[in-house]
Parts: sequence; C-alpha cells; structure tokens
Amino acid sequence: MNGPFKVLALGGDHIGPEVVASGLEVLRQAANQFDVAVDIGEDLLGGASWDVHGTFCTDAVVAKARAADAILVGAVGGPEWDDIRIDRPITETDGLTRLRIELDVYNALRPVRAWSALLPQTPYRPEVVEGADLLVVRENSGGIYYGEPRGREVLNDGQVRAFEISEYRTAEIERIARCAFEAARGRRGYVTSLDKSNVMESGKLWRETVARIGHDEYPDIELNHLLMDYALFAVARAPRDFDILLADNLFGDLISDLIAVVSGSLGMLPSATLPAAARVGHPVKGGLYEPTHGSAPDISGRGIANPIGAILSVAMMFEHGFGHLHAARAIERAVDNVLSAGLLPPDLGGVASTASITQSVLSGLRPNT
Ligand code: IPM
Ligand code: MG
Repeated sequence: MNGPFKVLALGGDHIGPEVVASGLEVLRQAANQFDVAVDIGEDLLGGASWDVHGTFCTDAVVAKARAADAILVGAVGGPEWDDIRIDRPITETDGLTRLRIELDVYNALRPVRAWSALLPQTPYRPEVVEGADLLVVRENSGGIYYGEPRGREVLNDGQVRAFEISEYRTAEIERIARCAFEAARGRRGYVTSLDKSNVMESGKLWRETVARIGHDEYPDIELNHLLMDYALFAVARAPRDFDILLADNLFGDLISDLIAVVSGSLGMLPSATLPAAARVGHPVKGGLYEPTHGSAPDISGRGIANPIGAILSVAMMFEHGFGHLHAARAIERAVDNVLSAGLLPPDLGGVASTASITQSVLSGLRPNT
C-alpha cells in the first residue's frame, strides 16, 4: 500500500466542479485498483469562494493546500466576478494565482499529444500531426503576472494609464531551465526555449541564463532558442519538430493554448504545476493538477464538458504526486480506448456527455493491462 496521500479538490467555477467530479471518480477507482491510499477533502476557489467568503481564495484553503500532497483544481472565473477585479494585485483577484504563489509552484508542465483517434478532429492533415508529442514547461510564479509595480493611474490629460512589469531574476530562470532540462532527459533530449530577447530585457536575461545552464549542467541535452512570434508559426506548422517548449509565464500561457490544437481540443489538456523539478521515481509534494481549459460559462450546467483534461490531470497526479507510473499509464490507456471507441464530447465533434465519458474511462480502467 502506498500513501496515504492527502488530496485537496477545488472545483472552482462553472464547468470546474463538473470536471473535478469526474477526475475524483477516476482518482478513487485508480487508487483502489493500484493499492494507493488517498484521503480526499474538498473546498471552494474562485468566484465560488468569493460568493461565500468575499475572497477568491481563503487563508484556510491556502493552509489546506500547504498540508496536501496534491491539489486537484477545476477552473476559476466567469463574467459574474469580472468587475471585482479592477485595480488590485492579481493574487487578490484570482484565487488560482494566489494559490500558485502561496505554494511556489513554478514548474508548470503542460503536455499534449496527437491522439490517433482524434486526428480527424484536428485541422491538420494526419501526416503533419501524427505522432506529435509536446511538453510545455512554463515558468508559473514570476514574470509579468506578478511584477511590481502594476496598476492604473489617471494622467494629467485625463487618460488612464494601465501598466505591469515583466521581470525575472537569474535564480528564477535557472530553476525553471533545470526543470525543462530534467524533463528532457526523460523524453527525447531536446529543448526549445522561447523568448523575445530581440525586444525585452527580461527576454535577454532569459536567453543568456537558459543557455548557460544548458551548457554548464546539461551538455547531453540539445538546446535551441526561438523568438516567441516565430515559434508560434513554427510550432503550428510542424508540431512534430518539437519536444519540450520552455517559456516564461506569459509566453507559456500562450503557447500552451496553441498546442492544444494538436490534440483537437483545449478540453484534452492536463497540467501539473510543481514546486520542484519532476524526476522519475521522486514524487513531489504540493503540486497543483488542473485541466488547462477555462471555466467555460457558456456550457456550464449542461453536463457536456469534456472531462478528459481533468482525468489526465489525475494521471499526472499519480505520476508526479504519488510516484505511481503504472496507474498514470493505465488511466491514459483507458482514455485512449474511450476515444478509439468513438465516444467524443461536443468540443470534439461528438455528443457524449461528461458522465458517459467518465463511466467509460472507469470501466476501461484496469491494473496490469
Ligand atoms: C492558465 C490560465 C490562467 C493563467 C488564468 C486563469 C489566470 O489561463 O492557467 O493557463 O493565465 O495562468
Ligand atoms: Mg491559459
């Protein structure tokens, strides 16, 4: 028996709780089948927390998250809470970003692959995308999201000036660069680092620092640098040419949505955001696991949200949070089988409900197959 592992589930807003419920069903069954003890607690985050407590993330949730081995998050936000957000630090206006900062989870791993069954759902010709397998390593606790000062002011001529600062320190870049290089050792040994070093000071420091860490500490890994604008074109055109995409907080946010197109839908994308590098056989305590998609207010409450991003996030929890690769691979295989059977949610052109996809993953989930 492994564990017990403490899991905190924070559904968040709109479709967040719907997909987290699916993720938890898979978590409970896989834990059972693979002899992993889990102790699951639930709480509020985002607008759901604001409505009850008047804050997007309570101190109590931060304390519970700090004590947890892993945190499963749905998605936060919605138009109901947009107006509350003006002119405050982002950690007070977004519960998820507060949690990321409080837990110092700086290493956001966002994988995507071209699933054979979904090739027709992508805008690609199969021969361009088949076999694509990418991992975005996104710096997730610094950069323009948190740089100070930020805010808005009224100028003498009556205009409003709004501003934020993109800043990075050497140590922040070094540690995320090591995360990418470590991940590359478990994959194809190839890192592409993205920046705007042609126009941004923080981009110049980014490029120099990543190059130095690569040269001094990871000579076995091939490293290339691309300017972010060109990278969007190059990755979109030939996704199979890339393996690991290392980027700062903002550029990592952008590129992780772009690569979702390789899988056919944003609803397919899981993530693990960790307070350390991921190394095989070394579970990391205190990681956040969340589907990359948003809270999708337009489809919430209809039972049609794609639960696969959340289910695959649970697979990442088994791998990185519990150090249990077998369970992780079994969940991925179960998902693959469901897709191959043609059971697709509306975002992938099908009509299957959240519940029916979840049930099929559960019935296909078996140890040792
Ligand atoms: C993401 C999201 C978040 C981000 C939002 C919800 C704050 O887009 O996790 O990709 O920008 O980091
Ligand atoms: Mg995003």
